[in-house]
Amino acid sequence: MSVKSAKSEGVELKLPNKTIELPLRSGTLGPDVLDIKSLAPEGYFTYDPGFVSTASCESKITYIDGDQGILLYRGYPIEQLAEKSDFLEVAYLLLRGELPTVPEKTEFVSTLKQHTLVHQQIFNFFNGFRRDAHPMAIMVGVVGALSAFYHDALDINNPEHRETAALRLIAKMPTLAAMCYKYSVGLPFMYPQNDMGYAENFLHMMFATPSETTKPNPILSRAMDRIFILHADHEQNASTSTVRLAGSTGANPFACISAGIAALWGPAHGGANEACLNMLHEIGDVSQIGKYIEKAKDKSDPFRLMGFGHRVYKNYDPRAKIMRETCHEVLSELGLEDNPLFKLAMALEKIALEDDYFVSKKLYPNVDFYSGITLSALGIPTAMFTVIFALARTVGWISHWNEMVSAPDYKLGRPRQLYTGWPKRNYPAES
Ligand code: SDX
Repeated sequence: MSVKSAKSEGVELKLPNKTIELPLRSGTLGPDVLDIKSLAPEGYFTYDPGFVSTASCESKITYIDGDQGILLYRGYPIEQLAEKSDFLEVAYLLLRGELPTVPEKTEFVSTLKQHTLVHQQIFNFFNGFRRDAHPMAIMVGVVGALSAFYHDALDINNPEHRETAALRLIAKMPTLAAMCYKYSVGLPFMYPQNDMGYAENFLHMMFATPSETTKPNPILSRAMDRIFILHADHEQNASTSTVRLAGSTGANPFACISAGIAALWGPAHGGANEACLNMLHEIGDVSQIGKYIEKAKDKSDPFRLMGFGHRVYKNYDPRAKIMRETCHEVLSELGLEDNPLFKLAMALEKIALEDDYFVSKKLYPNVDFYSGITLSALGIPTAMFTVIFALARTVGWISHWNEMVSAPDYKLGRPRQLYTGWPKRNYPAES
């Protein structure tokens, strides 16, 4: 991979008492970065709430161009991977950096199949939850608890341990996710069937029962696999940054992924797919769209148009286009072309994209806008949407965790602050 040489020139920063030079670094693609490491010794911090202008790390995994609406996994456009690849090939690509050869893919898939089961004791954890517990609450708990079962491979400085932890997590997430659903409806857990594909096996564990093991529809399995591909990674988003920060302390990978699941849950992030479907149900009818568009524009109203806007994309999220096509495929396969929610979503998208507020602020549909309708059509309950996002994003999270921990110079993440509290004051003397 040819990397632009780091630019020799820097920028001069005139401080009150001196001028210093900050090195300028260029990546392969994207904006140059100002290396500000030398500021702290000079007694200064930078201030960037929400990290809008901050590059937290160097990475080779995923590249996003928000203005052009470009998303590359290890250089490959998401559109090509969604059309030509499958989720486990994408997982291999994100984790190891290159597409696998046929023998490499075969070996990778067969190794994963050795890890699809979870320890029987984990079944007991589920019994501690209420049946109506949110499945993300269960996932945060049970994924974090995995570290209680794998003392044999928790040395994060051992590459083989890191690889085993990655494979265990990628293999077990579908099993745990399906267990969350089965527990919520009071049905028995289904064991993974290793003669099935990854997405097919997930749908099997979700919807088969011991008394009826129907083989999932291949078109729906392919759609599920494509949804996993679209959600696999996305650069330094909030949950991935959480995983990196947790990993920088030396915490074990299961604890770090559990932290990522917790961060993803928020409606501003991975929880948006659940929030978007609930919003569409609340809007209910095309005639109500105008009222909700006005609510979204009203600064005094906390309502946001769920599934719209993005910190990085100021153009159409390339995943949203693929998600809309996949949604259409699933609805037509299921004879649901007249799905009122899909029609409502398309009408909402059209109206919003013609409204100056959304156009001027460059607010476009994101990956979450159509994923909820698709998952709902697949029979997946709304509360499970973010669990599926977490299932897929585990590949990205563990790839970033591995990239960071395997770097010789990684440091404990510890941001500073602008302190605006009290200056030193003394405890009141005895009155
Ligand atoms: C994901 O980071 C990632 O990569 C995330 C993700 C991934 O794959 O990991 O892509 C997944 O999280 C997608 C985003 C899902 N979230 C939603 O759909 C929730 C709705 N969207 C908004 O909450 C919002 O757009 C955010 C949180 C996604 C982005 O917020 P930013 O970048 O902090 O943008 P902002 O709040 O600065 O918005 C700029 C302006 C503001 O108005 P002004 O202060 O300039 O007047 O746009 C407004 C915002 O009020 N705005 C919206 C809006 N999103 C932004 N107004 C109405 N509805 C919206 N959805």
